[in-house]
Amino acid sequence: MLDQQTINIIKSTVPVLEKYGKDITAQFYKTLFSKHPELLNIFNHANQKQGRQQTALANAVYAAAVNIENLGAILPVVKQIAHKHRSLGVLPEHYPIVGENLLQAIKDVLGDAATDEIIGAWGKAYGVIADVFISVEQDMYTEAKEQHGGWEGYRNFVVDRKVEESDVITSFYLRPEDGKPLASFKPGQYITVKLQPEGDAYTHLRQYSLSDAPGKDYYRISVKKESGSGVDGVVSNYLHNGILAGDVLPVTAPAGDFVLEMESERPVVLISGGVGQTPMISMLNTIAEKQPEREVTFIHAALNSSTHAMRDHVNRIVSEHDSFKSYVAYSEPTEGDRAAGNFDKDGFVDSKWLSGVVADRDNADFYFCGPVPFMKNIYQTLKSWGIPADRVHYEFFGPAGELEQAEVTAVN
Ligand SMILES: Cc1cc2nc3c(=O)[nH]c(=O)nc-3n(C[C@H](O)[C@H](O)[C@H](O)COP(=O)(O)OP(=O)(O)OC[C@H]3O[C@@H](n4cnc5c(N)ncnc54)[C@H](O)[C@@H]3O)c2cc1C
Ligand code: HEM
Repeated sequence: MLDQQTINIIKSTVPVLEKYGKDITAQFYKTLFSKHPELLNIFNHANQKQGRQQTALANAVYAAAVNIENLGAILPVVKQIAHKHRSLGVLPEHYPIVGENLLQAIKDVLGDAATDEIIGAWGKAYGVIADVFISVEQDMYTEAKEQHGGWEGYRNFVVDRKVEESDVITSFYLRPEDGKPLASFKPGQYITVKLQPEGDAYTHLRQYSLSDAPGKDYYRISVKKESGSGVDGVVSNYLHNGILAGDVLPVTAPAGDFVLEMESERPVVLISGGVGQTPMISMLNTIAEKQPEREVTFIHAALNSSTHAMRDHVNRIVSEHDSFKSYVAYSEPTEGDRAAGNFDKDGFVDSKWLSGVVADRDNADFYFCGPVPFMKNIYQTLKSWGIPADRVHYEFFGPAGELEQAEVTAVN
């Protein structure tokens, strides 16, 4: 445990570190990757370029430091990060490397203000925090390996078939190459896929939610081809264009704490924007199989029918279950969509429309996933309805972030 003097130093210096947070993290990653270029095989380069991950790691260290006397209080957050780390193959030996470079970055940015006493205190605190992560992750590694059909690290999967679900989303059915049993998973969980496009110096790791119910002899992922700001996403485009049926993909065992609660029979509201529907489809399929009487409201937002994946599947499953309902919002419906009347809301999902379609909001569990502005709107709506936090569940398709600030409109 840490002595009181160390705790006092940590608490009094957290605000300073947060103030210089951006500079410290930028410096941290610069030195980390120059001294350990092999880590570029693990970290997401696009997140680095766009600063999405820049602050997450250091901020989490500061948040942990503030709670250093009671790390149990932040255990749920530690677990969420640890799931990601386990899925990416972060190991105990990586922790001293990160710690050393974080301390060096603090020294570099704060200069003389970073006295030996301060650096010493942060070194000790980092050690305590790292030990918590290492131990939580160790349990997760053991569980992933020892479960029935489980494995350690990467296991090769053969792409059994590719199915085009919309103009931008394609499903990949993956079967273990070794033909041995396949670990189950909880609906909502994801796997990490590793790729090294030809001519690329590094491997690239990406998470994909499992998009079908567990209990099959395959895993299914459904991937959107990403091309933001004119730059094609490395992995999603390679999966779409370069990976064919019969090819092999290395995959880590399912992970993640965004999971359907199945102990309860409470109504479920599943709300998704764009490709954010993949974990919701897994949940919907699972409820259809295991809790067919449970009330489900499936709400999906897409641009229009050309990007709307799995529409027929959802329509079919809803028509087969009296307790299931589904609603669709198109922000840019085509003329054909208007003529067909195949959507319920013209425009973005908003609070007023949601309140009209969600029947039993005072009892329901809510799950949502989509682009961050979309998620912010849903989160604010649920908050304004007074839904307690334990009935609100969400997943980010990137580094976890804040949902507190409201956006003017939702997008998909
Ligand atoms: C838990 C979890 C579950 C997920 N589930 C799914 C899922 O089911 N289906 C799915 O499709 N995705 C899912 N994702 C997202 C997925 O992991 C990838 O992030 C996504 O496929 C993009 O990866 P990429 O390699 O194609 O793009 P990257 O190369 O990582 O780029 C990311 C984005 O940034 C843009 N970009 C890249 N470089 C630049 C630059 N220099 N300037 C400006 N823009 C740039 C790209 O165009 C792209 O839009 C999930 C993510 C998480 C964390
Ligand atoms: C106590 C130390 C650490 C803390 C507090 C921490 C915290 C975090 C946080 C908050 C995230 C974002 C989680 C998310 O995606 O929602 C993250 C992701 C990640 N962490 Fe850590 N981390 C630590 C140590 C490490 C170590 C030792 C490594 C290995 C070198 C590592 C590698 C990664 C990677 C590769 C990601 C995914 C980021 C990306 O690729 O964009 N972390 N970590």
